[in-house]
Amino acid sequence: MSEPKKWPISRLAILLIVILILGIVASTIILIFAFLPSENAPWLEGRLADQDHYLIGVGRADCTGPVAEVPFIGYGTMDQNGAGIITRQYCRTFIVAEPQNRTKRVVYVTAEIGMISQRLRLEVMKQLKQKYGEMYRQDNVILSATHTHSGPGGYFQNTIFMIASKGFIKPSLNAIVNGVIKSIDVAHQNMREGHIFINKGVLLNSQINRSPFSYLQNSKSERERYSSDTDQEMVILKMTDVEGQDIGLFSWFAIHPVSMNSSNRFTSSDNVGYAAYLFEQEKNKGYLTGEGPYVAAFGSSNLGDVSSNTKGPHCTNTGESCENLNNYCPIGGAKMCIASGPGKDMFESTKIIGRNLYLKAKELSMAASEEIYGPLNSAHEWLNMANRTVQLNATHSGKTCKPALGYSFAAGTMDGPGMFNFTQGAIHGDPFWDAVRNGLLAEPSNESVECQKPKPILIPTGEMSKPYPWHPDIIDVQMVTIGPVVIVALPGEFTTMAGRRTREAVKSEFEAHGKPGMHVILAGLCNVYTHYITTFEEYQIQRYEGASTIFGPHTLSAYIQSFRELVQAIVKDTVRDLPSYPEPSILNISVNFLLPVIDAKPLGRKYGDVLQDVEPMYRVGEVASAQFVGANPRNSAENMSTLSFLTVEKYDNTSASWKIRYNDASWDTRFIWQKGDWGRSTAIVQWHIPNNTEPGTYRLQYFGHHKELLSSIHAFRGTSSEFEVLNLEFVKL
Ligand SMILES: *[C@@H]1O[C@H](CO)[C@@H](O)[C@H](O)[C@H]1NC(C)=O
Ligand SMILES: *[C@@H]1O[C@H](CO)[C@@H](O)[C@H](O)[C@H]1NC(C)=O
Ligand SMILES: *[C@@H]1O[C@H](CO)[C@@H](O)[C@H](O)[C@H]1NC(C)=O
Ligand SMILES: *[C@@H]1O[C@H](CO)[C@@H](O)[C@H](O)[C@H]1NC(C)=O
Ligand SMILES: *[C@@H]1O[C@H](CO)[C@@H](O)[C@H](O)[C@H]1NC(C)=O
Ligand SMILES: *[C@@H]1O[C@H](CO)[C@@H](O)[C@H](O)[C@H]1NC(C)=O
Ligand SMILES: *[C@@H]1O[C@H](CO)[C@@H](O)[C@H](O)[C@H]1NC(C)=O
Ligand SMILES: *[C@@H]1O[C@H](CO)[C@@H](O)[C@H](O)[C@H]1NC(C)=O
Ligand SMILES: *[C@@H]1O[C@H](CO)[C@@H](O)[C@H](O)[C@H]1NC(C)=O
Ligand SMILES: *[C@@H]1O[C@H](CO)[C@@H](O)[C@H](O)[C@H]1NC(C)=O
Repeated sequence: MSEPKKWPISRLAILLIVILILGIVASTIILIFAFLPSENAPWLEGRLADQDHYLIGVGRADCTGPVAEVPFIGYGTMDQNGAGIITRQYCRTFIVAEPQNRTKRVVYVTAEIGMISQRLRLEVMKQLKQKYGEMYRQDNVILSATHTHSGPGGYFQNTIFMIASKGFIKPSLNAIVNGVIKSIDVAHQNMREGHIFINKGVLLNSQINRSPFSYLQNSKSERERYSSDTDQEMVILKMTDVEGQDIGLFSWFAIHPVSMNSSNRFTSSDNVGYAAYLFEQEKNKGYLTGEGPYVAAFGSSNLGDVSSNTKGPHCTNTGESCENLNNYCPIGGAKMCIASGPGKDMFESTKIIGRNLYLKAKELSMAASEEIYGPLNSAHEWLNMANRTVQLNATHSGKTCKPALGYSFAAGTMDGPGMFNFTQGAIHGDPFWDAVRNGLLAEPSNESVECQKPKPILIPTGEMSKPYPWHPDIIDVQMVTIGPVVIVALPGEFTTMAGRRTREAVKSEFEAHGKPGMHVILAGLCNVYTHYITTFEEYQIQRYEGASTIFGPHTLSAYIQSFRELVQAIVKDTVRDLPSYPEPSILNISVNFLLPVIDAKPLGRKYGDVLQDVEPMYRVGEVASAQFVGANPRNSAENMSTLSFLTVEKYDNTSASWKIRYNDASWDTRFIWQKGDWGRSTAIVQWHIPNNTEPGTYRLQYFGHHKELLSSIHAFRGTSSEFEVLNLEFVKL
């Protein structure tokens, strides 16, 4: 009777042995893979044990500035003043801390603004010091801008940037400083153990080189090493918690966010902002736009000569191509030469490019498997870029120059042409404009003229300091490393080839010090704005980018030399001994040409009264719209981060209350502010009803603050009538 009982036992034993063998084989394979030197970073000494995870935090905060009357920074046109919101601007941050030493950290912030100004950087660092002491410093905090051209300016302390921004606009600066700090606070507070993965992939059909004639100046042998005249590779860092749940994604791709053109007057984060929005909407289901824990960021890179307007430049009057050295149209000159596409209008183009970015990032995120391990490092130096000596080769050296803008700066680009009849590619000045400049501004010194050659100087900004220095000359160079990943903080807009040379120099410098296989990420528009950085060869033909390379023909070589020095300091652990110029100071500025706010309303009306109501019924795909007695949105400056200028609300009959479905950050809503006479204004709230909208009863609301002469600021709201939304598709289901 024992026979039948034996079988199950021996079967069990065999099963156990098989499981044991499989287990040994599996763990051997895992161990072999774990201890195989990683192809990309064999220099890393030992992998971290399982419990040694990075600490990772991500955060997002609103940094939308005044949405009315302040000129946008980007195209440099003085009449492109804000007049509403398509989308809000957000700051997004990640913080990483070392497992062994949790005070050793690096911080990367990308803000949906035009550029980081020196003033902004100084203010942020001052507040971080007050709040966190020595934890967050010049060397381990990188501030980068996405470079949207549809956000307010006014946050600069150098004269050249104040000219087109109506001066120094404190509410504009405050909104960004507060947003950056808040996003760092949020990331700081939610730090937890997790994993970081890197992935890279090519994205086609989303960019073009807008200065191909410049690019062609680079030697044939150099160009032949690349398949395209733009960098088409997107890099992503995917962050998860220890359980593998996604917590954030940070990506870098070289593209100008200029799908929204210079006629746009609504705050917008443009194509890269749309990509971030799609990603976050998907990951933060059930949250309103701009809310929810998951953070997706699309940061800038070497975008100097890269446009998103993929149809290329055409004369707006005749329709013919103006892809020529001067971007010149036979009738009307350079100001008629404008690029657009790929959509039928700027709104559609923004969404097409943004969706391309989003889909690529999503694909890379899902496939990301290369995990990042290793120590964190950071290095920062203040350089006097107006006076750097560069060793070009064994026998020759070059010098950087005091800042100056060339004639072609005034020509603008095909993404937004300039004024008068300036054209790109100007290597000779003009007696008339020279005389105007000498009379109104300053005559460039012979030293500057010589140094900047062949750039004909239009504005010798480095020699002008009234009322404030026209350009900064003490400039940040900075880099951080996270294991085998190095993030290089570029202090401006590097062109494609300038970026490639920088990337290769940093990589080879690490290699020369026994650390091959570093992943070099170029982060654009960091810490201070110095316009463009072209190669020496591109500089020679002085298109817009060359004319805007303010420190002269050897600017790029000087930066590359400095980045090599930072690499050496990191690998030799001598970061503390880096030489540095004294930190620039925060200037006391009181130049503001914005007129004070005066609000008024029609007789017998209240602020928020409905002037034109909604229709009783809409179908999906239509636009629900209402007009209200408005007040100047600048009154809301103090309350921007907690206010939504509009809501779309749905009636919920189970709870018998209105539920907010959309806010002013949503890409399906628009807040439009129209200024009338004598301080009167109209606010328009629009909802572009998406196809997947649930049928039901809805209403629109408008929120604002008004201020009358000598009166304080008061909040008010306006509410439309209720309306029905029909969705035939929904009914069929
Ligand atoms: C941890 O890192 C901080 C910041 O880099 C450093 O000051 C400190 O000495 C480190 N502590 C240890 C124990 O290594
Ligand atoms: C600019 O040049 C074009 C083409 O030569 C000419 O038609 C136009 O009148 C010029 N405009 C000004 C303001 O000089
Ligand atoms: C901007 O794009 C719109 C289409 O959305 C077009 O009508 C307009 O002419 C463009 N303006 C400029 C200055 O490019
Ligand atoms: C420029 O740098 C040189 C050394 O490289 C130094 O001797 C000179 O004083 C500097 N000039 C200025 C104006 O800072
Ligand atoms: C060194 O650089 C200078 C200036 O770019 C160039 O004229 C010279 O030919 C170079 N010398 C060598 C040996 O490459
Ligand atoms: C530049 O040099 C020329 C001739 O050497 C001289 O006449 C002129 O005044 C100088 N210009 C300036 C701004 O110093
Ligand atoms: C800043 O400038 C204003 C006006 O020019 C002056 O009243 C104020 O005292 C200055 N503040 C500082 C800190 O210098
Ligand atoms: C607006 O902001 C101010 C200052 O932070 C605050 O005192 C006030 O309560 C806010 N008002 C509203 C309506 O949120
Ligand atoms: C909401 O109310 C409408 C009309 O009063 C009714 O037809 C509908 O069934 C209700 N829906 C729910 C979910 O209660
Ligand atoms: C919404 O539906 C209409 C009609 O079916 C279609 O033409 C349109 O492209 C859709 N819009 C979107 C954004 O999908």
